[in-house]
Amino acid sequence: MTSSKDLRDLLKQKSVQIPKDRVLKKDDTAVDAKQKKRNDIVGSGGKGGNRQIEYQTIKGNLHERLIDEMNDAGVLVQPDDELKSFVLRFVESVLENEELPLNETERARLSDDLLEETLGSGPLATLMADPAVTDILVNRFDEIFVERFGILESTDIEFRDEEHLVRIINRMAARVGRRIDTSSPMVDARLPDGSRINATLPPITIDGPTLSIRRFGRKRLSQNDLIRLEMFSESMLEFIGICVQARHNMLISGGTGSGKSTLLGAVSQSISNRERIITIEDAAELLLNQRHVIRMETRTSNIEGQGQITQRELVVNALRMRPDRIILGEVRAGEALDMLQAMNTGHDGSLTTIHANSPRDAFARLETMVMMSGLELPSRAIREQMVSAINFIIHVRRYDDGVRRVERISEVVGMENQTPQMQDIFEFKQSGRSGNRIVGQHVATGIVPRIVDELISRGIAINKQGLFGRESR
Ligand SMILES: Nc1ncnc2c1ncn2[C@@H]1O[C@H](COP(=O)(O)OP(=O)(O)OP(=O)(O)O)[C@@H](O)[C@H]1O
Ligand SMILES: [Mg+2]
Repeated sequence: MTSSKDLRDLLKQKSVQIPKDRVLKKDDTAVDAKQKKRNDIVGSGGKGGNRQIEYQTIKGNLHERLIDEMNDAGVLVQPDDELKSFVLRFVESVLENEELPLNETERARLSDDLLEETLGSGPLATLMADPAVTDILVNRFDEIFVERFGILESTDIEFRDEEHLVRIINRMAARVGRRIDTSSPMVDARLPDGSRINATLPPITIDGPTLSIRRFGRKRLSQNDLIRLEMFSESMLEFIGICVQARHNMLISGGTGSGKSTLLGAVSQSISNRERIITIEDAAELLLNQRHVIRMETRTSNIEGQGQITQRELVVNALRMRPDRIILGEVRAGEALDMLQAMNTGHDGSLTTIHANSPRDAFARLETMVMMSGLELPSRAIREQMVSAINFIIHVRRYDDGVRRVERISEVVGMENQTPQMQDIFEFKQSGRSGNRIVGQHVATGIVPRIVDELISRGIAINKQGLFGRESR
């Protein structure tokens, strides 16, 4: 298996061998001997000690050579099977033609270890295999954090050095047809398992390469999971379900990593199986269970700077594909205008998310994005579009106890003096703390949304008091 644990052992042993703060004097043999003994104890302990170091060093060197050879042969972008046979051939040839100081067991595990290093994610393999890990954040080659159950924690997993980290980044990117190098030092991509990676190289990140992995484990968080995790209440979910079925347009707003995309997926669960849904994303992460789903993903330009396909183009194209609903993963730029127009012209029931600090901020940002479309619309016209297109804003927040909660659901009710007006229907009310954990409840504000009467007149059964009464949860 992989070396992440072994690598850790190796690094620990190394740091014992070379005491930084000490210079040995000539006659310091006693201390020298003591140090040597310590090394031997560490060395012979547990996993086979110095042999282990030797094996790791040899493996590390071989891995470097292997990757170089793969690079030269251009096989890094080939399917797994090709890579696998390349690695096996390499190991076979090395073992046959080179005098390596390895015993039988080590020879036997060499190909397995190199395969894991090459096809997998190197030292990150154990983290990638842990279903509780939702994010892996490599700040530096020797500083790796993970998020488990909403809480960030540091790990003692490390890469050998910056080069090792860059090699893994390169490989991950190359496997999904992306490229990262000094001329394009940032990459955003989706791994075959649905995880999303972002990597940067210096000088963009001053202190070295970084890697952020948003893991999409096999299991997505469903509506029920999110209720259990206290992201929202039963009443809120019921209300959201009604809005989706009544084809109201909704905008999910929140900060980075606050749970927008997760919530978008959960909200989309309420869409009926009979509808034709088109999803548009920069890196596809939504996974819908409905029968009629078409997924679209943007494309970055190739090395010659050509072939880019933007979200905006995809929205325009999606409109020609006879969609019942368009789900835009996250609105970031000029496509905001096309999305609003789609929402206003019969593609109601569309959903998207936006990076914002509050529902109000969401509108301000949306306005700026519409301006990025290049059409010189007066501010008032843009706001009118927004107000008539968007019915509800669901704002999510990652609170300081690590729990992601819907902070409020606001209804957009109109314009007054050129200012969009909103009213809160549900909110999270914090009542105190229990240790680190915030104590509080999702409650209805007591305001009945304006659209409710219209819904009732359309024959949709709504228990007004039960859902929106002040004591409703
Ligand atoms: N209610 C929740 N409880 C626990 N974990 C959650 C919850 N909602 C989302 N997560 C996890 O938090 C991480 C971030 O979620 P998500 O990708 O939905 O956020 P986001 O706001 O879309 O992030 P970004 O700004 O990067 O697009 C994911 O790993 C997800 O599985
Ligand atoms: Mg997201």
